[in-house]
Amino acid sequence: MKKKRLIIVLFGVLLAAVWVSASWAQPEKIVLNNSEAFKQKKRSSVTFPHELHCNGLECLDCHHRYEKGENVLDEDSLEEGNAEIRCASCHTWDARIQLRSAFHLMCTGCHAKQAKMGEKTGPRTCGGCHVIDK
Ligand code: HEC
Ligand code: HEC
Ligand code: HEC
Ligand code: HEC
Repeated sequence: MKKKRLIIVLFGVLLAAVWVSASWAQPEKIVLNNSEAFKQKKRSSVTFPHELHCNGLECLDCHHRYEKGENVLDEDSLEEGNAEIRCASCHTWDARIQLRSAFHLMCTGCHAKQAKMGEKTGPRTCGGCHVIDK
């Protein structure tokens, strides 16, 4: 009898651990400051409310790895500290879409599209993302 109860408790602990690690998997806020990739930064870094963007969007709406035009990214690779999922790891100086465009196309692109449809969205002006007084 005791053994059974122990197993139930252990199972609960396991579930809690899985739940905690799943919520840890998405950083709440990320300060985007690729100063190494940009070498000479002209604008301030951008604070990106990551968790806010996970409401209503799929991870793979933004994160990608294309093979023959298809997004084949394994969601399990979306872990904090995995440098391979960072935009700068693929959008380099010799990429078709360089890093600065990659960010602007994705971020401003979506905000502009949603604003056009009259939906609640994020900043579209330079200073809205590159906040000056910091
Ligand atoms: C609106 C776009 C968007 C959505 C949706 C999104 N992410 Fe992200 N995520 C980003 C951007 C941009 C970064 C920063 C990448 C960089 O630093 O180059 C990021 C970074 C991350 C990182 C941190 C990587 C590191 O640098 O350590 C993790 C982990 C992550 N995302 C997981 C997820 C998971 C899990 C989901 C789905 C629940 C998700 N993301 C949904 C845009 C998004
Ligand atoms: C594993 C490599 C890789 C990573 C990591 C990556 N990209 Fe891409 N991205 C590509 C490739 C390849 C394309 C296809 C266009 C091309 O040939 O350059 C692309 C296309 C895009 C496009 C064009 C629209 C689309 O989705 O097809 C945007 C915008 C973009 N990436 C932004 C980002 C951002 C922002 C990040 C970080 C959250 C990111 N990318 C991470 C490789 C990558
Ligand atoms: C697919 C659509 C989409 C993409 C891609 C996207 N956003 Fe947003 N963003 C939104 C929406 C929708 C909101 C409004 C969310 C809310 O207030 O509930 C928002 C809000 C914001 C806000 C304001 C948050 C606040 O507290 O008012 C900032 C800052 C922002 N986004 C930055 C970014 C940056 C930086 C990127 C690129 C790394 C990005 N967004 C990519 C849809 C997007
Ligand atoms: C929706 C958010 C958003 C808006 C709006 C936006 N940017 Fe950016 N921009 C970014 C992000 C994110 C980066 C990547 C920053 C990093 O990782 O260092 C970036 C990078 C840059 C860079 C390259 C890095 C640097 O500092 O030199 C320049 C230049 C830049 N933006 C200028 C502009 C200008 C000019 C405007 C207005 C026309 C603008 N941005 C509007 C999000 C935005």
